[in-house]
Amino acid sequence: MMMGKTCSKTTPSNLLVKRGERQKARNTPAGKETNAPLGVFVLEYDASNEDIEKTRNWKPIIKIAVSGAAGMISNHLLFKIASGEVFGPDQPVALRLLGSERSQVALEGVAMELEDCLFPLLREVDLGIDAKKVFEDADWALLIGAKPRGPGMERGDLLEMNGGLFAEQGKALNEVAKKTCKVMVVGNPCNTNALICMANAPNLDRRNFHALTRLDENRAKCQLALKAGVFYETVSNVTIWGNHSTTQVPDFVNAKIGGERCTDVIDDQTWLENDFTPAIQTRGGLLIKKWGRSSAASTAVSIADAMKALVTPTKEGDWFSSAVITDGNPYGIEEGLVFSMPCRSKGDGSYEIVEGLKINDWLRERIKKSEEELSNERNCVSHLMGVEGASCVILEDTLLPGEM
Ligand code: LMR
Repeated sequence: MMMGKTCSKTTPSNLLVKRGERQKARNTPAGKETNAPLGVFVLEYDASNEDIEKTRNWKPIIKIAVSGAAGMISNHLLFKIASGEVFGPDQPVALRLLGSERSQVALEGVAMELEDCLFPLLREVDLGIDAKKVFEDADWALLIGAKPRGPGMERGDLLEMNGGLFAEQGKALNEVAKKTCKVMVVGNPCNTNALICMANAPNLDRRNFHALTRLDENRAKCQLALKAGVFYETVSNVTIWGNHSTTQVPDFVNAKIGGERCTDVIDDQTWLENDFTPAIQTRGGLLIKKWGRSSAASTAVSIADAMKALVTPTKEGDWFSSAVITDGNPYGIEEGLVFSMPCRSKGDGSYEIVEGLKINDWLRERIKKSEEELSNERNCVSHLMGVEGASCVILEDTLLPGEM
């Protein structure tokens, strides 16, 4: 069906409820309340009303599933995706929003706002609370929802609790998502959650799983630019190595500013090692202290950046950071971990790890520490990955940026 924006919305239906079970669709154009168990509205446009000239060159619609869809991060991200900012002006999108029993009504509010934006490229919005329905035929799964660490909760408890969620979502993706589905894990601890999800989704290519470290890269670029007194667009080749935790390594050794080596432009090794590095490692925590909640807008922007990085050819000579599977990596990092490394893409959704970065002793020592941390995290959740008997040791300094 050729897509195009019209105002002729057909009868609302509930794509996420099995056919035959469709009843009491939630869409209430006049704002009427219903008691339908899943809030769902679907925008279906009448093809006969399409402006063919406008939509002739549009690509086939893609389905983007988002968990934690009623949360703060999604509240920024969904509108960026629906506006065409991520996939371009010729890519119609269907959004499939996953919430929980608790967030169901809030999700309907999000959907109402999406409706009210009149985004031409937004062709469909479905809401649901069952991952197996929401992930059906997904081209992308953005796994944002995760529980925050509660008072008195050990880090092992957090790994266990969120790990269970990501195991379930992995199974759902395995069963119903497209085999080519790209999975971006944001819910913390994101590297290990991505690993659990991947282990439970053997039908999907392991290389299509990412954990978000683009936020850390963006943070690093900004701080380097501020120190050098240049605009941040001139900062390139910034790698975040390792875990999205306080052991992450923002690499100033290989970074460039205005095409020059960062260490030549910022001739202050003490600042780079003792100020810049911990500032990036702990920035999420500082932000929580100041704002009273976890980063939301900047995380959403960085998710959009991370997706764009995969669907746009990487600039010659540059790279981006993403936490990806270490299998066959050129840096000798233990295999079977989701570890942030320098990547580049041809723009087809896939990526390759950039080889040949200089790893000096300073970097090596810190990269090793992050690797050990991730290896320990994996041991602690191995039962969620179908492996029994690994010993779980949580290092004292194993922290999310927000746990400082
Ligand atoms: C961030 O880096 O801002 C977040 O991951 C912090 C957190 O722990 O939620």
